[in-house]
Amino acid sequence: MAACLLAVSIAIGACGSEDTDLVAGKEAFLEGCASCHTMERAGSQSQIGPNLDAAFQRALIDGFGREGIQGAVHEQILNPAKVPPDSPAYMPPEIFTGQKARNVAAYVAFAVANAGEDQGLLAEAGRSDAEPGTGEFVFLEGGEGGAQSCGQCHTLEAAGTSATIGPELDSYLQGASEEELRTAITDPESELAAGFEGGIMPADYGESLSEEELDMLIEYLLEAGGGAGDGG
Ligand code: HEC
Ligand code: HEC
Repeated sequence: MAACLLAVSIAIGACGSEDTDLVAGKEAFLEGCASCHTMERAGSQSQIGPNLDAAFQRALIDGFGREGIQGAVHEQILNPAKVPPDSPAYMPPEIFTGQKARNVAAYVAFAVANAGEDQGLLAEAGRSDAEPGTGEFVFLEGGEGGAQSCGQCHTLEAAGTSATIGPELDSYLQGASEEELRTAITDPESELAAGFEGGIMPADYGESLSEEELDMLIEYLLEAGGGAGDGG
C-alpha cells in the first residue's frame, strides 16, 4: 500500500516537471496573466494584482524551491480567493485549466525572481508578427521605453487581441476623433469609459511612449477602427 502511494506521487511529480511546456506556458501567461501581474522575465508590468517576482522572492530565500512555487501557482490559478469581481483582490478563477494551467505554473515557477532574459524559443514565445517601428507593434508589444502593451487589456479586431480588462476598441474607434483618442491614451482618467473603473489603464503613456510611438499608434488605431482617418 505504501509503495503504491509512493509510486503515485512519483508519477505526479514527474508529470509536473517533465510534461510541461515552458514555451506554451509563457504564451499563455502573456495571454491570460500579464494584464494583471508584473513579472520581469516575461516583460509584464501591470500592477492590478501582486508583483509575482516580489511575491515569491521570500519563498525562494526561505528555501521553498521552484517546484513548490509551481504547485502554489497552479493552485492559485484553479482556486483564487473567492471575493466579488469588484474587489481589488479579485482574480478570475480557472483562467486556464488542465495542461494549460500546468504549463503556466511551470513557466511562472521558472521565471519569478529569476534575473536575466529568456533565450531561444522562450524569447520568441508570445511575440507577435508585427513589425518593429509600426503602430501595430506599439499596440501589441508596448514601447521601447517600457510602456505596457495595449493589447494586454483591449480587444481590437485588426490586431487580433481579445482581452477584456478595458473596453473593446473597435466600436470606440468608429466615433472617436484623433484628439479624443489622444486624450483617452495620455489622460485616461479625464473621461472614464462607461462601466469601467479608473486607475487600471496606465496614466503615463504621455511619458512612457515616445512622441513618435504615440503618433504611430494613433495613426494605426484610426486606420484599424475605420473611423476618422487623416484625409477625411
Ligand atoms: C484580473 C486580474 C488578474 C488576472 C488576469 C490574474 N491575476 Fe493573479 N492575482 C490577481 C489579484 C488581484 C491577486 C491577489 C489576490 C489573491 O491572492 O487571490 C492575484 C494573486 C495571484 C497570485 C498569488 C500571489 C501572492 O502574493 O501570493 C499568483 C501566484 C497569481 N495571482 C498568478 C496568476 C496567474 C498565473 C495568472 C494567469 C493564469 C493570473 N494570476 C491572472 C489578479 C489577477
Ligand atoms: C492595464 C490595462 C490597460 C492597458 C495596458 C491599456 N488600457 Fe486602455 N483602458 C483600460 C481601461 C480599464 C479603460 C476604461 C477606463 C478608462 O476609460 O480609463 C481604458 C480605456 C481606454 C480608452 C477609452 C475607450 C472608451 O470606450 O472610452 C482607449 C481609447 C484606450 N483605453 C486605449 C488604450 C491604448 C491605445 C493603450 C496602449 C497605449 C491602452 N489603452 C492600454 C485598460 C488598459
